[in-house]
Amino acid sequence: MEIVSLFLPFCFFLSCFLIFNTARFQRRSSQAATLPPGPPRLPIIGNIHQVGEHPHRSFADLSKTYGPIMSLKLGSLNTVIVTSPEAAREVLRTHDQILSARNSPNSIRSINHHKVSVAWMDPSSTRWRLLRKLSATHLFSPQRIESTKALRMKKVQELMSFMDESSEREEAVDISRASFITTLNIISNILFSVDLGSYGSKNSNGFQDSVIGAMEAAGSPDLANFFPFLGFLDLQGNRKKMKLCTERLFKVFRGFIDAKTAEKSLRDNPKDVSYRDFVDALLDLTLGDEAELNINDIEHLLLDMFIAGTDTSSSTLEWAMAELLNNPKTMAKAQAEIERMVGQNGVVQEPDITELTYLQAVVKETLRLHPPVPLLLPRKAETDVEVFGFLVPKDTQVLVDVWAIGRDPNVWENPNVFEPERFLGKEIDVKGRDYELTPFGAGRRICPGLPLATKIVSLMLASLLHSFDWKLPNGAVSDMDETFGVTLHKTNPLHAAPIKKRAIN
Ligand code: HEM
Repeated sequence: MEIVSLFLPFCFFLSCFLIFNTARFQRRSSQAATLPPGPPRLPIIGNIHQVGEHPHRSFADLSKTYGPIMSLKLGSLNTVIVTSPEAAREVLRTHDQILSARNSPNSIRSINHHKVSVAWMDPSSTRWRLLRKLSATHLFSPQRIESTKALRMKKVQELMSFMDESSEREEAVDISRASFITTLNIISNILFSVDLGSYGSKNSNGFQDSVIGAMEAAGSPDLANFFPFLGFLDLQGNRKKMKLCTERLFKVFRGFIDAKTAEKSLRDNPKDVSYRDFVDALLDLTLGDEAELNINDIEHLLLDMFIAGTDTSSSTLEWAMAELLNNPKTMAKAQAEIERMVGQNGVVQEPDITELTYLQAVVKETLRLHPPVPLLLPRKAETDVEVFGFLVPKDTQVLVDVWAIGRDPNVWENPNVFEPERFLGKEIDVKGRDYELTPFGAGRRICPGLPLATKIVSLMLASLLHSFDWKLPNGAVSDMDETFGVTLHKTNPLHAAPIKKRAIN
């Protein structure tokens, strides 16, 4: 009897506990079972017809109706797009771990790049961690950035000489091409100590064209990105283009790697080199029985660095110049600041950049309005996860529309106006902690090249503004039309004429 009298209340409390928890679980899972809102879908294609040529703009428009986290069905691909700083924070910080895998494009898969690439590999793999660590140590650490300072200065001075010659000839310069060559040479010298671009060759340069071709193949629209089973048909020719361009690039890399290997084999101690570039450091890891890397890994890593680093940096410079040419007072203000800091006859040096607060604000404002990677690189949910109160099912592609966030009137005053002043006296930066401005992404997949990219862009811009005045042909205004690809380009390359202000040293 005593046991029964104890057992009954126990059963009662247990039942209450179970009922309460089941109800709570059901409430949670029924909430979590809700996908983010989104536009109605058509059979088979889903919402592909609403993506258009400028997906970042289409998503910004759709978010006005469906809110800061939306679901779209792109063919067979479930996609969630976030368009507010708060939602971006959830993706890039709160759920960074679960949302750090990537959804790779069809063209990338054609060369198996997704299996070995730091940009596309699964972040839970030890391989990805090794490649991130190697890049962080041998390319982007403060010590490495400092030790390649003279190299950047030299390459930017070559750009100044090229501008000088164009100014003598009173010729307008293709800013995009010129800054691309400078960036390409900075990166190729940091990687394996050679110039791969040349200002002189009016005819196309094979290496440059192949880098651009590979980027186009990775970023061009491709039906197989929405219907993966169509991949082998290569309807848009992106796989073929990617294969062709990367074969050419790998051949160039292989030439330099072989030359370095041959040179090393002549030494008593193969690791004994006075100046060691990135490839030297990587080749050391291919030696011995416990080699951590092979030549294939190195080639794919070099490919990543060229694809991720060149066009992003040079297009930022081009957009900055286009904005400044359309806003002469802002350009004059930036030039006055540089002149105060550097003096009439001095040359802009990297340490000056940290003091040039207005110039830094110009770069941030450019990245706000023209983020080179407007949707970041696509993320993928590794498991079901609740984001901003909605369910994001496993394998969903997750896009962060940093372009939309940069132009959101709820976040920025006069969002479409180029106004670097908005950053003066504010702490906000591009380093992945301020979710209203994350052109380099944030979290574990943040762009590792950020410290190098900001140095390259700022030094090129400050030097161009210090040494020259600028005018557009026929005094016209630069159009700001965009073309969407892996990077967000100016549709019509900016041509501007440099007018020499002082002797180029
Ligand atoms: C203005 C210039 C640049 C911008 C705006 C930029 C932006 C980005 C963005 C948005 C991502 C994806 C981040 C994410 O998924 O959250 C990324 C990834 C990456 N970037 Fe950059 N980038 C720039 C320059 C560079 C440079 C100069 C390099 C190297 C030389 C570089 C190397 C990489 C690599 C290797 C990744 C892949 C990282 C990973 O997935 O783990 N980037 N970049």
